[in-house]
Amino acid sequence: MKFFVDTADVSAISELNGLGMVDGVTTNPSLILKAGRDIREVTREICALVDGPVSAEVVATDSASMIQEGRSLAEIADNIAVKVPMTWDGLKACRTLADDGCMVNVTLCFSANQALLAAKAGASFISPFIGRLDDINLDGLDLIGDIRLVYDNYGFETEILAASIRSVNHIAECARIGADVATAPPGVIRKLVDHPLTDRGMESFLADWAKTGQNIVP
Ligand code: E4P
Repeated sequence: MKFFVDTADVSAISELNGLGMVDGVTTNPSLILKAGRDIREVTREICALVDGPVSAEVVATDSASMIQEGRSLAEIADNIAVKVPMTWDGLKACRTLADDGCMVNVTLCFSANQALLAAKAGASFISPFIGRLDDINLDGLDLIGDIRLVYDNYGFETEILAASIRSVNHIAECARIGADVATAPPGVIRKLVDHPLTDRGMESFLADWAKTGQNIVP
């Protein structure tokens, strides 16, 4: 499973990228606001840093303006994936931008039917939002499983980009189900390494090692 980082914070991306943990990046208007940066400037920096797809989202609501915005974003770098919303206008923009040769990420997906539409519109990625479904007492992970089944039934190549990830458990479950990509905030990715038995094991190994009085490097 690929890891995308869900942020427009360049230093957080850079830190994880140095560890080889970044297969791509996703941003959205709220993340651009949080970063407090100009969208074109920060997106260009991220694209230069990361080899994989970098999602940048359109904000128009009619297809013609979405296409115009999408083409403008795609000019920033070759690894831009234009993010469009799951609406009929978004799907129309998806078809046109995909025909242009752009990667398109269809966002705000909350049902398997919507995922089916995105695949038929030529999306490179579909972004089902797990956490926001959990927030309204539905099971976001069930949706990931449903889309995996539907896409495998028909051989759709659109990648399932599990989004709105809030916990390390979401990531483990996405990997079990077979999501192609999980996009998560840097803090959640950093927490993946944590386990109390690892900490306890380290403590006892280091305590015993100190008692040997030895040095590994002579
Ligand atoms: C990613 O593409 C989404 O924009 C993001 O994961 C949304 O996450 P949120 O529901 O925590 O805002």
